Amino acid sequence: MDHFTRKDGVLCAEGVALTEIAEAVGTPFYVYAAATLRRHYRVFAEGFAGLGGSAGAPLTAFSVKALSNVAVLTLLAKEGAGADIVSGGELARALAAGILGERIVFSGVGKTREEMAAALDAEIHQFNVESEAELRALSEVAAARGVEAPVALRVNPDVDAGTHDRISTGRKDDKFGIPWDRAEEVFALARDLPGIAALGVDVHIGSQITSLTPFEAAARRAAEMVTRLRALGHRIERLDLGGGLGIPYGDGVTPPEPAAYVETIRRVTDPLDVQLIFEPGRMIAGNAGLMVSRLLYTKHQSARSFAIFDAGMNDLMRPALYGARHTLLPVTEREGEAAPYDIVGPVCESTDLFDKDVSLADPRPGDLYAFKTAGAYGAVQASQYNTRPLIPEVLVDGERWAVIRRRPSYEEILALEDVPDWIG
Ligand code: LLP
Repeated sequence: MDHFTRKDGVLCAEGVALTEIAEAVGTPFYVYAAATLRRHYRVFAEGFAGLGGSAGAPLTAFSVKALSNVAVLTLLAKEGAGADIVSGGELARALAAGILGERIVFSGVGKTREEMAAALDAEIHQFNVESEAELRALSEVAAARGVEAPVALRVNPDVDAGTHDRISTGRKDDKFGIPWDRAEEVFALARDLPGIAALGVDVHIGSQITSLTPFEAAARRAAEMVTRLRALGHRIERLDLGGGLGIPYGDGVTPPEPAAYVETIRRVTDPLDVQLIFEPGRMIAGNAGLMVSRLLYTKHQSARSFAIFDAGMNDLMRPALYGARHTLLPVTEREGEAAPYDIVGPVCESTDLFDKDVSLADPRPGDLYAFKTAGAYGAVQASQYNTRPLIPEVLVDGERWAVIRRRPSYEEILALEDVPDWIG
């Protein structure tokens, strides 16, 4: 579901023609539809409303890593979203967007002591702790400040999410979480450590998961862990089930409907009386964004035809990193005969290849195209490789639109660098 449709043959973001934005900000750029962001957040959060019994209302903590622009976070905060963060930088973003500490959970295997201190100062809802060493560090930081850190221990359920190897996190050989068979021991340690209040169990098995089976398996294992820990006298009040729900990428794979996901989780967690916490990222942001790029040239060599765009792998990394495919739409459709092209960017790498054998109808230099499903893990993963400035982000809401991150100038990029005197 998205809000990118054609008006008079021209692709629009809600009520705004992409040609108008391209004219004003130049290409390439990312554009997000506020209506899609709101709708996806609501579908998710409303699905879970009312679950969890007396232990507290469910918390939908948007996974900031998926799309971290402060304007987007502010929009989601107004809808009631919390934040799942993985760094001090993301904490700063969430707070700048007006998300209260009490709606923030802090995930990630490598939190520094400085980041822990900042999160304690912000009185966040929960630290998702992933190792004994991290637990001890957090204990020291919290005790030194005379506070107690609310903690969920992320356990590794050893469930294969059946997704791309590079975005799987819940198998026993992945770097994430505390091994299943050591969880009881680490909870016992947590009980004895000063400055730690271990209140919850956390699992997250991966991203772009397109079947309910692994979700159900992980939730069952986590529920089993809650019951076991309670029997051992631990006060377990929260269950964080992470993120990971897949979305359609135009590759013919149909992920489960959010309602079916909700129902699966409800069945497993109903008897527990815990506060449920979710960390959806892609499901909210993915189909809310496009990357718009201009065709620079076409060329034909050997047996292949190439369409060379002004966006490169540094702007949208997912195809180069995971072989991900983003459907390409012409902003203005042409009638001409279609032929297959390899879709490439200007970066000096052979992996700067978005897709192969994509059928384009009469492509001409200067034409605008949109890469679909680019809202999640698009702009956030971009780099300035080849000293190509980070591309702008634009937010559309109905008929209104605004640049929410502008393109830096070369001067701004170079201003971060210094040439020491001794180079001469
Ligand atoms: N919670 C934790 C602890 C995570 O590590 C992640 C994603 C999420 C929540 C959000 O997952 P989501 O609902 O978005 O699937 N760059 C890759 C995806 C990496 C996901 C990393 N962790 C991509 O472009 O596909």
